[in-house]
Amino acid sequence: MRHLLSYRKRVLTPALLAGMAYAGAPDQVTNIFNPLSTPANSVYRAALLALAVCAAIFVSVVILLIYAIVRFRHRPGDDASEPPQIYGSNQIELAWTVLPILIVVVLILVAARTIADVQDYPQPPDALKVTAVGRQWWWEFHYPDLGIVTANELHVPVSKSDRRQITSLTLESADVIHSFWVPQLSGKTDLIPNRVNRMWIEPKQAGVYLGNCAEYCGTQHAKMRLRVIAHSPEEFGAWVASQRQPAADDPQASAGRQIFFSTSCVNCHSIQGTSAKGTFGPDLTHLMSRQTLGSGAAPNTPEKLRAWMRNPQAIKEGCLMPDMQLSNRELDQVVAYLLTLK
Ligand code: CUA
Repeated sequence: MRHLLSYRKRVLTPALLAGMAYAGAPDQVTNIFNPLSTPANSVYRAALLALAVCAAIFVSVVILLIYAIVRFRHRPGDDASEPPQIYGSNQIELAWTVLPILIVVVLILVAARTIADVQDYPQPPDALKVTAVGRQWWWEFHYPDLGIVTANELHVPVSKSDRRQITSLTLESADVIHSFWVPQLSGKTDLIPNRVNRMWIEPKQAGVYLGNCAEYCGTQHAKMRLRVIAHSPEEFGAWVASQRQPAADDPQASAGRQIFFSTSCVNCHSIQGTSAKGTFGPDLTHLMSRQTLGSGAAPNTPEKLRAWMRNPQAIKEGCLMPDMQLSNRELDQVVAYLLTLK
């Protein structure tokens, strides 16, 4: 036994910890089994324990069941009468009352410690502050200290062992309850109208982390996807600098620009440095720096952008972006203008 314990201490624990030491890159699917951020790792460890306890219960029950089936099966020569019936056994009653209580208490304690670890974690003063607003059906991200507003793609710096970098999120909702969930980065936290929730992430690897709204919020709940893009500090600095630029104003696109500013586009969308100040839809200042349209409903390519402008409902039925009833020529011109918003 002592051998086993010391083996565990010397070999297994470091190996397990190394295995958990943020191996690999972000996955191409939402994955709870490859945490790459401190809070996700705490949740993962608690989940593994719960899974192990459930697996042990499952295996014991199956073994007992198989034993009973084989040992007490019908044999030739058995008479048809029932076997002796036993009523009441203090030992058995006690065992199946006390044991589950103990298991539940252990799980409660582990869960409480994990929740406290994650929720009470002191946020360092240099944490990047971002406010995420859930909307039907997209995400708005504000960086109050940087003066940046963007949508659906949350850009953050990666955290390194020699220079930790935490992103501290304030969660709000503009309409109904949503839930922010990027499984490789943290557990889910709801965005609730008239309430402010907080959570934090600390991505350990650069790359794109996939997430999704995790609380049913209406027709397009499934197309309320979310990307967290973790950059090296230098890359993040470059992203911030480019996002703080006012919108491009390419004279080549003036026809489309004029259509954009003379229709109701401006009632819902903002373009920094222009008179478009709508706040109902996503900020379009740097639209083309984003990877997807409609919160992950389609890739952000010129063709898809045109299809989206022509009839958003065909790509994301029920979304609040109306069909603007533009002619083909006007469509081409507006798309040409939007393509300059890099
Ligand atoms: Cu937002 Cu589901």
